[in-house]
Amino acid sequence: MLVTAIEARPVRSLERVRVELEPGIVSVVGPNGVGKTNLVEALYFALTGRSFRTSDRRDLIPFGASLARAEATIRDEDGLERRLLASVSRTDGRRHLLDGSAADPATLARNRPPVAVFAPDRLSLVKGPPAERRAHLDGFVSARWPSRSELRKHFGQALAQRNALLARLARGYGNPADLGIWDAGLAESAAPLVAAREEAIAELAAPFAEAAAELGLEGGATLTYAPRAAGSAEEIRAGLEERREADIRLGRSSWGPHLDELKLETGGRSLRRYGSQGQQRAALLALLFAEREVLLAARLVTPLLLLDDVMSELDPGRRERLVGRLAGGGQALITAADEESLPGPALAAVVRMPPPQLASAAAA
Ligand SMILES: Nc1ncnc2c1ncn2[C@@H]1O[C@H](COP(=O)(O)OP(=O)(O)O)[C@@H](O)[C@H]1O
Ligand SMILES: [Mg+2]
Repeated sequence: MLVTAIEARPVRSLERVRVELEPGIVSVVGPNGVGKTNLVEALYFALTGRSFRTSDRRDLIPFGASLARAEATIRDEDGLERRLLASVSRTDGRRHLLDGSAADPATLARNRPPVAVFAPDRLSLVKGPPAERRAHLDGFVSARWPSRSELRKHFGQALAQRNALLARLARGYGNPADLGIWDAGLAESAAPLVAAREEAIAELAAPFAEAAAELGLEGGATLTYAPRAAGSAEEIRAGLEERREADIRLGRSSWGPHLDELKLETGGRSLRRYGSQGQQRAALLALLFAEREVLLAARLVTPLLLLDDVMSELDPGRRERLVGRLAGGGQALITAADEESLPGPALAAVVRMPPPQLASAAAA
C-alpha cells in the first residue's frame, strides 16, 4: 500500500497544494516558514484524521477561514486507488472519509499504511509521561497485528467500569461483591494486551538497540517493558482480588497495564529523566526505525515515515546512516531547509516548496 499523492486544500498556510509521492524517499525542500511542516501535517491529517502537532484540529484551519481539508491518495497492491479525506470545520465539526463515505476507525486504518512521525517537538514521546509511550506502543501493536487493534480499547472500557464501581464504593455506596465480575472483565482484557505488548517489545528490542547505536547513542540503548500484571487472565484476576481493599480505599485501580512503563534507557539510566536532548532525539528516531523495520520484515504493509526537520540536528555521518536505513524499504517523506544537508539517496525525488498552487478549478 502506497501513498501516491497528498493535497492540502487548505491546511494552515497551504491554500491548494498537491504533491505526488514516490514509492521510496521523497524530500521536501524549502526555506523556513514556507509550509513544509504544514504539508507533513496535512498528510498525517489525511491519513489518521489527527494532527501530531496539536490536539485541537481547528488549529489547521487557515487564519480567518472556517475549514481545513486534506486528501491522500492510496494505491494498494492491486493498483486500486482510494482516497482518504480529513476535514475540520468551525461550523460542521470534523470528518474522515474513505472514498467519500464515513468509515469506522478500524476500516480507515486497514485502508492506509501505518504512519509514524519524527518532529523536533515530538520528543515528548521520550521525555513525557508513561501514558504517551503506552499509547504509542499500543499503536504499534495495532499496526503489527491488525487483529489485535481493539485490545487497548477493550481494556480501557473494562478499566473504566471497574473504576466507576470503585469510586462509588470509596464514597460508601454499592456492593463490594459486585467487583468480582469487573475483576474478571479487567483481567480478561488485560492479559492479551500485556501479552501483545511483550511480543511487540521482544521484536523491537534488538532493532532498537542497533538503530540507537547507529544514530547517536554510542553507549547503546535498551527498550524494555516490565508489566506489573503479567500471565494468564486468571493470574491477573487473582492479583486484582488481592488489591481489592486498597483499590476500594483509593477509589480506582492501582495495579494493571494502564500504569506500565515502556522503558528507554542508556547505560542503565532512564533517557526520559537523564538523557540529553541529542540522546532523546536519537532514541525517538531509533524507536521509529525499529518499528518500521519490524513492519517491513513482517511484510504486511509499507510503512510511511515522516521525518520533519531531522537533518539539521544530525552530523553528516548520521545523516548518511539514517538515509541508508530509509533506502532499505518503505516510504519516507523528509523535510529540509536546503538540499546540501541531504545525502544522495534522499535526492532522487525532491519537491521544492512552495510548490505551484493548484488552480481553483482543478480542485473540486
Ligand atoms: N492556521 C494557520 N493559518 C495560516 N497560516 C498558518 C497557520 N498556522 C501556521 N501558519 C503559518 O505557516 C507558516 C509556517 O509553516 P511551516 O510549515 O511551519 O513552515 P516550515 O516547516 O517550512 O518552516 C508560518 O508562516 C505560520 O504563520
Ligand atoms: Mg518546519
